[in-house]
Amino acid sequence: MSTFRKTFELRDGRTLTLRAPQLEDAQGLIDQMKCVDGETKFLAREAGEFQLTVEQEQDFIRRSLETDQRQFLIADVDGEIVGNCAVGLVSTTRRYRHKAAMGIAICKAYWHMGIGSKLMQNCIEWCRARGVEQLELEVVTENSSAIAMYEKFGFEIFGTKKHAMKYADGTYADEYYMILFLNEQ
Ligand SMILES: CC(C)(COP(=O)(O)OP(=O)(O)OC[C@H]1O[C@@H](n2cnc3c(N)ncnc32)[C@H](O)[C@@H]1OP(=O)(O)O)[C@@H](O)C(=O)NCCC(=O)NCCS
Repeated sequence: MSTFRKTFELRDGRTLTLRAPQLEDAQGLIDQMKCVDGETKFLAREAGEFQLTVEQEQDFIRRSLETDQRQFLIADVDGEIVGNCAVGLVSTTRRYRHKAAMGIAICKAYWHMGIGSKLMQNCIEWCRARGVEQLELEVVTENSSAIAMYEKFGFEIFGTKKHAMKYADGTYADEYYMILFLNEQ
């Protein structure tokens, strides 16, 4: 059962808490996901496409709290859920157990305050504590802020997936495949 909780002071003096979500966070988490989906074209869903009910979200939270193969954290600023981040093993089979993947999404009003870096740092620590050797992700090639953050932590681009996303208006976005080799850092 995850009881993860860490607090930090943001540059503007507010308190950032990174913590494992509890069942009572389900509605706040749904609101945060819907908010960020409508604010960026760099995530997997179109605006309005996130459809989980409170009960379904609670099931997801419950499973996240019980597993040790994945860590799901929320970023809470003075009691408001403003971001979330997940890191987990790609597969539990012997041949893939050395790799993990991650995803991160923060509401626009909270970008560029250092929250993404704190979540990123935690993902890396989670991997290191489990002997994970590679942390991988996909990022839209135009998402320069995210790419700058990943490169700051040592991720490198290993390829481009052409037309990885197709938007509702029929246009496409390419994605970079990025990997952080933890044994080389
Ligand atoms: C990408 C994202 C997670 C970054 O989180 P954040 O809290 O804004 O990041 P931080 O404030 O910790 O900044 C981390 C680094 O990102 C880069 N960065 C931040 N803002 C930037 C900007 N305006 N321009 C260029 N690089 C920027 C910098 O390298 C920065 O490091 P520094 O502060 O030491 O210079 C956040 O913008 C977000 O959730 N975006 C929408 C969803 C998304 O794109 N998720 C990633 C999908 S792969």
